[in-house]
Amino acid sequence: MIRFLHQQREVALEQLPADTSILDYLREHRGLTGTKEGCASGDCGACTVVVAKAGNDGLEYAPVNACIAPLGSLHGTELITVEDLKDGDEYHPVQQAMIDNHGSQCGFCTPGFIMSLFALYHSQKTGDREEILEALGGNLCRCTGYRPIIDAAEQALAGESDDAFSRRARATLDQLRALSDKERETEALELPHGHYYRPKDAEQVARLLGEHPQARVIAGGTDLFLESTQGLKDLPVLIDVTAVPALHVVSVDSKHIRLGAAVTHRASQDAVLTDYPELHELIQRFGSLQIRSRGTIAGNVANASPIGDWPPVLLALGGSIQLQSEAGQRSIALDDFFLDYRKTAQRDGEFIAEVFLPRRKENLFLRAYKISKRFEDDISSVCAVFALELEGDRITGARAAFGGMAATPKRGQSLENALEGMNLRTDSLDTAVAAIEEDFQPISDARASEDYRRLVSAKLLYRLQAEFRGDVDTRVHAMEIHSGELAIHD
Ligand SMILES: Cc1cc2nc3c(=O)[nH]c(=O)nc-3n(C[C@H](O)[C@H](O)[C@H](O)COP(=O)(O)OP(=O)(O)OC[C@H]3O[C@@H](n4cnc5c(N)ncnc54)[C@H](O)[C@@H]3O)c2cc1C
Ligand code: FES
Ligand code: FES
Repeated sequence: MIRFLHQQREVALEQLPADTSILDYLREHRGLTGTKEGCASGDCGACTVVVAKAGNDGLEYAPVNACIAPLGSLHGTELITVEDLKDGDEYHPVQQAMIDNHGSQCGFCTPGFIMSLFALYHSQKTGDREEILEALGGNLCRCTGYRPIIDAAEQALAGESDDAFSRRARATLDQLRALSDKERETEALELPHGHYYRPKDAEQVARLLGEHPQARVIAGGTDLFLESTQGLKDLPVLIDVTAVPALHVVSVDSKHIRLGAAVTHRASQDAVLTDYPELHELIQRFGSLQIRSRGTIAGNVANASPIGDWPPVLLALGGSIQLQSEAGQRSIALDDFFLDYRKTAQRDGEFIAEVFLPRRKENLFLRAYKISKRFEDDISSVCAVFALELEGDRITGARAAFGGMAATPKRGQSLENALEGMNLRTDSLDTAVAAIEEDFQPISDARASEDYRRLVSAKLLYRLQAEFRGDVDTRVHAMEIHSGELAIHD
């Protein structure tokens, strides 16, 4: 039985297949067609809904791509869709601001924008432009243009949040607590058409994997659900790791930042950036806020895509993972995890329980570069991460890992040898550039040609050196386009 709140009432469902998406449930089973289907792959944001959970400081609202989020993930939460925002005859401040600022033309994208803005309206917002751009990075509009939508956001976010949702927050929290009490009574969540398991501890995950060899582990589903919406595969048995409290833990000890398998990109951000502020841009450009609100680092690693962004980070920083099964636990360095195209050292019956990111070393010079066709919400053509240990200007230890340059995420052994011992400020990069040719034989595909991938990787070495020297400004600046004027500032 899946239980969640919608329109202040408890919804209890058990007659739907385990791989039903929130979007299909809304449109096909409830006739709620305000939430749109554009791409069915998490890219356009037309299907954005908001999911509210009971957090430590009250309700936490997250924007979610309903097209790639399983219905089972709603268990114990409140679902909010565009139909729910009006308060009697009054539009929500976010809706009113879109009307006032002419933020909609054909209207197809509008419910998605409204819901992304609604989530931002209910966050610890500052209302600044960067924050608005981040919140809207996962929503595409093909006719209005973004300026009126950004203006609408600025209007809606000015002042205190005061809407029907904030006014009834206490009652909603009580309802959610009552739901979670009921959940505690449920041993495992089973649906008649397939199974959607929500085990409560890691041992139960391992046991279920042992009992159901055909089952797929699901965390955010931001990769897995594309197998259903794009690959048209059935996913009849899902084991959702996000109901395991222990797998949500982010902890920091003297050696590692430890990230449980259910920790989303968003939830890991503060701990990661405290040690590695240089990863800020890469993290912000990982998918969209919708994707970062559900997707996990463990899922990114387990998915083993050659163009995933976290594997190069973990390879360059010497990361590792903890695998768990009924047989017990074992840890493995990321260096030994990726075996071939989408083949990993994860054995049948195992799942990733934790990801370990080593604590920052002294004298580390770190750079992470993402090259993609679009700045926001795009997959890397090349992702390059350089972790250099320095004594003065001399490189005493080098780890350089790339995505998009081989069948797996991969370190460049010859490149690292070439970098070690080099004076980063004064030495020529010729040998290091030649080493990239030795290490990698990239392929051409829809994202980039083989030549482009090699060339851009070499250029990233020059960028690395320029940034170390500090003599050339290589960063993208915040751009403010407002009322027809373009201002560029740091
Ligand atoms: C629009 C869009 C934009 C994206 N942008 C980026 C991007 O910028 N960079 C990038 O790298 N990726 C991107 N992705 C891919 C995806 O969001 C990430 O890989 C994400 O981190 C996957 O995490 P998840 O929790 O959603 O994994 P899921 O989809 O739940 O799972 C992915 C795979 O890993 C397995 N799995 C999940 N958790 C575990 C576990 N604990 N143990 C073992 N197996 C497990 C699943 O069975 C599945 O095979 C994007 C995806 C979309 C749809
Ligand atoms: S329909 Fe495009 S993101 Fe869901
Ligand atoms: S108003 Fe038409 S796509 Fe945005």
